[in-house]
Amino acid sequence: MKLSEKTAIVTGGGSGIGRAAALRFAKEGAKVVVADIDSIDGEETANYIREHEGSSIFVKTDVADPEQIKRLIETTTSTFGGLHIMFNNAGVGNLEVRSVDLSVEEWDRVVDINLKGVFLGIKYAVPALIKSGGGSIINTSSLLGLKGQKFVSAYNASKAGVVVLTQNAALEYGKYHIRVNAIAPGVIDTKIIDNWKQNERKWPIISRANALGRIGTPEEVANAVLFLASDEASFITGATLSVDGGGLMF
Ligand SMILES: NC(=O)c1ccc[n+]([C@@H]2O[C@H](COP(=O)([O-])OP(=O)(O)OC[C@H]3O[C@@H](n4cnc5c(N)ncnc54)[C@H](O)[C@@H]3O)[C@@H](O)[C@H]2O)c1
Repeated sequence: MKLSEKTAIVTGGGSGIGRAAALRFAKEGAKVVVADIDSIDGEETANYIREHEGSSIFVKTDVADPEQIKRLIETTTSTFGGLHIMFNNAGVGNLEVRSVDLSVEEWDRVVDINLKGVFLGIKYAVPALIKSGGGSIINTSSLLGLKGQKFVSAYNASKAGVVVLTQNAALEYGKYHIRVNAIAPGVIDTKIIDNWKQNERKWPIISRANALGRIGTPEEVANAVLFLASDEASFITGATLSVDGGGLMF
């Protein structure tokens, strides 16, 4: 097993990519702390892991709130004795409108969760990772963090911020044996794209806009996250790994 004796936190672990990664980490032997703002989904992931002979707890967490992230790290280390993997994954889409029509409140909501949430995850996880002798941080960016798209300015900016914040943390904490990488998923079949699916005109185009001509599954993204979390990626840090079926170059 690739993650035995490791403890991992997965934010946004109640659904989609986070849920798939939490299950994959557990299958590889990790103790998994599921953090999500949604208690029903988050508890369900942790229960599922326990029912399949894994070790998991759920901690209700809003990633945009420093006090709640602090408490998440404290609960993790007091329950499992350390922290080795931090998957800063929770995120939200933005209301799709032109920048001039985007409210400042909506901008703040999206940037607070998608970018400040990753900053807080790094800020409070690093001391715990250092105490454990090092570890791996994986941050969820997006294909839309690597290129602009109309009507998603807050999402674009927040996810682009994650790419460089990842490099910043990789440079600051490499000497403590902490690797920091990002993933940039393309269109993946989770709740976050429900509104795109309902657009009968655009969905046939969006759903095939990559070299493989299909959308991805959360499990395919979880495989990439597992790789970055594991020792198999021992010389990889500061990287952003596209998991997009070739969507960036399409
Ligand atoms: N699905 C895609 O096509 C796609 C593409 C690129 C990037 N992403 C990114 O992947 C990540 C996971 O999204 P997903 O696709 O699995 O969608 P999802 O909606 O299935 O999962 C997101 C999870 O984050 C949780 N969450 C939202 N706000 C939170 C907060 N403030 N604090 C804690 N948890 C919160 C939600 O409750 C949910 O469980 C996000 O960062 C998203 O931006 C998704």
